[in-house]
Amino acid sequence: MDFKEKIAIIPNFPKEGISFKDITPLIGDGKAFQELIDTMAKKLKELKVDYIAGPEARGFIFGVPLAYALGVGFIPIRKPGKLPQETVSITYDLEYGTDTLEIHKNAFKKGDRVALVDDLLATGGTISACAKLIELAGGEVASIDFMIELTELRGRDKLEGYHVESMVQYD
Ligand code: PRP
Repeated sequence: MDFKEKIAIIPNFPKEGISFKDITPLIGDGKAFQELIDTMAKKLKELKVDYIAGPEARGFIFGVPLAYALGVGFIPIRKPGKLPQETVSITYDLEYGTDTLEIHKNAFKKGDRVALVDDLLATGGTISACAKLIELAGGEVASIDFMIELTELRGRDKLEGYHVESMVQYD
């Protein structure tokens, strides 16, 4: 299946000049969504990961069914103040200002292999913060997988040394 056909391009959202890649038609189509998760799961199976981790909110949409398909646990990476147990947190720069993400400190045993999953790679700020969080919590990032990669923003440059894959790419 050509998954791009199921992604709607919305001009000038959320602001003027931005061409938003809307995944709701894809995840709203049961057959397409199932084929996508099965395809991603097949690739990840070979890596023999112990966990899938992903950032809220859209990382959960792809990460949770992938964890289920692989029969491994899902570890949420959340915005501040949401996780009830002891956390490690990281603050990273945005175009304007900063953002913070957290993970449970006890999420992994040392050396656990973790596949990190999110819907979109843009500048790479979010996902490189997530990779650092996994490492701070004792996990090893075995792979980073996206539904969509915006290649022009060169997010991959921030992910040197990691195994990075994306299902569809846009310039
Ligand atoms: C979006 C997207 C990625 C991130 C990509 O999340 O889901 O997580 O931005 O951008 P980057 O590569 O430039 O960091 P957003 O912050 O909009 O949160 P959401 O998933 O809760 O909508």
